[in-house]
Amino acid sequence: MPIRPAPATDSGAAFTACEFFAGGGLAGLGLHLGGAGFRTVLANDIDAAKARAFRANHPDTPLIHDDVWAVTPDQVPGAPDLCWASSPCQDVSLAGARGGLKAQRSGAFWGFWKLMQGLDAEGRAPRVIVLENVVGLLTSGEGQDFAAVCGAMVEAGYTVGALELDAGLWLPHSRPRLFIIAMRGIEGPRLKGPALPFHSPRLTAAWARLPASLKANWAWWGLDTPPRRNLDLAAVLEPDVPCFDEAEAQTLLAMLSPLHRARLEAIQASGERRVGAAFRRVRTKDGRKLQRLELRFDGLAGCLRTPSGGSSRQYVVIVEDGQVALRRLTGREAARLMGVDEAYRLPASESAALKLMGDAVAVPVVAALTRGLFLPALTDGAEAAA
Ligand SMILES: C[S@@+](CC[C@H](N)C(=O)[O-])C[C@H]1O[C@@H](n2cnc3c(N)ncnc32)[C@H](O)[C@@H]1O
Repeated sequence: MPIRPAPATDSGAAFTACEFFAGGGLAGLGLHLGGAGFRTVLANDIDAAKARAFRANHPDTPLIHDDVWAVTPDQVPGAPDLCWASSPCQDVSLAGARGGLKAQRSGAFWGFWKLMQGLDAEGRAPRVIVLENVVGLLTSGEGQDFAAVCGAMVEAGYTVGALELDAGLWLPHSRPRLFIIAMRGIEGPRLKGPALPFHSPRLTAAWARLPASLKANWAWWGLDTPPRRNLDLAAVLEPDVPCFDEAEAQTLLAMLSPLHRARLEAIQASGERRVGAAFRRVRTKDGRKLQRLELRFDGLAGCLRTPSGGSSRQYVVIVEDGQVALRRLTGREAARLMGVDEAYRLPASESAALKLMGDAVAVPVVAALTRGLFLPALTDGAEAAA
């Protein structure tokens, strides 16, 4: 396949990207690097609320509001350097029914892939393709889904590798995610073998299950570990958000297990001010399903989810002078936990804002990949071609 150089752009960005399953466009924010990285030339999402949020924040970026299966190569401008896919994860998530990439929602990845094949047929395939997903993709379909994605990429002539990046290294938010990264015609920084923290044991185990033909085209992409994070959950809280009244707080606290209650009481007894996060979860005990409130006081929020059910709601717990106050996490706090700056326009409804952020990819994680992997590979490729 001939590789076409990316056109120079007036934004100063040397390279171009397309964002599929774009949501609110957070992948693009990380790819742009404030103008020093990629310029998004096309975005796509099927959801009307996501499309509104995307347009509100990226008014100059062309967006196709449609099913990815309906997008055709003639709608993609030029030869994008990078195509990003944050395809739906419900069917591969450890928390879901796990129908895998054959199921309707997560199977949308193949609609994206069909488009990549269409671009390739016209000599316009991107040199970098990224699939972002939950780590459940490593094991869904007993590993067949991961092998199928890597297999499709290798069959198309790409070298493939994957990283597990937890947003908690950059932000006060525990959010492990899998990034499968394929490159063709360029060389990204790579290591001789797996290395922590980004080649996690479960990722290495999934690689070990791949057939030899895929391992022969595998790269252990190398990325520097970021400097120690200096923000914790307390630092992202909005001031003066009303807390639940006594009755509502007690209803939630009644769901604590004895272990979590003991932890909370120890913090109360210490007299320290501590800020934690809490989730409602359904747990089974002695064959019975119980609603539990689970707390964490490690300075991190739990992984943001979409607020479709009660169990996905995240609460903020503030312990001060031995007193416990509880409230919901706000949409703006969720945006801060995704590394989105204050200028980002959130939907007016709190639940829409939480859904937007719960589905998104953390901006500094994408920025780290852009700086550490994508730009070095594409820049070296451009110099080699010069
Ligand atoms: C995990 S979210 C990705 C969000 C995005 N990375 C962000 O930062 O906001 C998956 C997105 O895929 C979209 N989606 C699901 N099925 C789709 C399809 N068939 N075609 C296009 N978009 C789809 C959803 O509306 C959702 O916004």
